[in-house]
Amino acid sequence: MFSPDSRAELDQILKRYPDKRSAILPTLYLAQRDYGYLTPKAMQEVAELLELDPTEVNTVAAFYTLFYREPVGKFVIQVCEDLPCALCGAEKIVSHLRERLGIEVGETTADGLFTLQTVMCVAGCDRAPVMQVNLKYFEGLTPESVDKILEELRSRSPEEEK
Ligand code: FES
Repeated sequence: MFSPDSRAELDQILKRYPDKRSAILPTLYLAQRDYGYLTPKAMQEVAELLELDPTEVNTVAAFYTLFYREPVGKFVIQVCEDLPCALCGAEKIVSHLRERLGIEVGETTADGLFTLQTVMCVAGCDRAPVMQVNLKYFEGLTPESVDKILEELRSRSPEEEK
């Protein structure tokens, strides 16, 4: 179930849209925040709240790479593999991350800290290669800069993530 805070937030969000259907993206975001990822139950709840067909909610959730339909780590690393990033060494960055994290693309580290994914263009092509960690961009990546980013992420306290 949505937390009381999220229900209150949703009430405010719904006031900004002409109809409930239009609020599907922010509502899915709230559901993901509360559930950790978009479980079938979470999407059913979104469908009920917005008076939509659950299939429609599922379809929208499947379209966006920032909606997770399986459990993910605290930090979701999404490396762009589209052409400009590929030409600038995205494959090397993915290999480096696989080696450093000890996981394959699509997996989560045993400590639940990192999930590694590859995605299509995240609109930072002029600063390729690019990866996104949760909602933050990291650009012009090199294996060395990736190591620094991982070190910084590992050092964050749980309070910083709230
Ligand atoms: S191709 Fe990687 S950000 Fe656009």
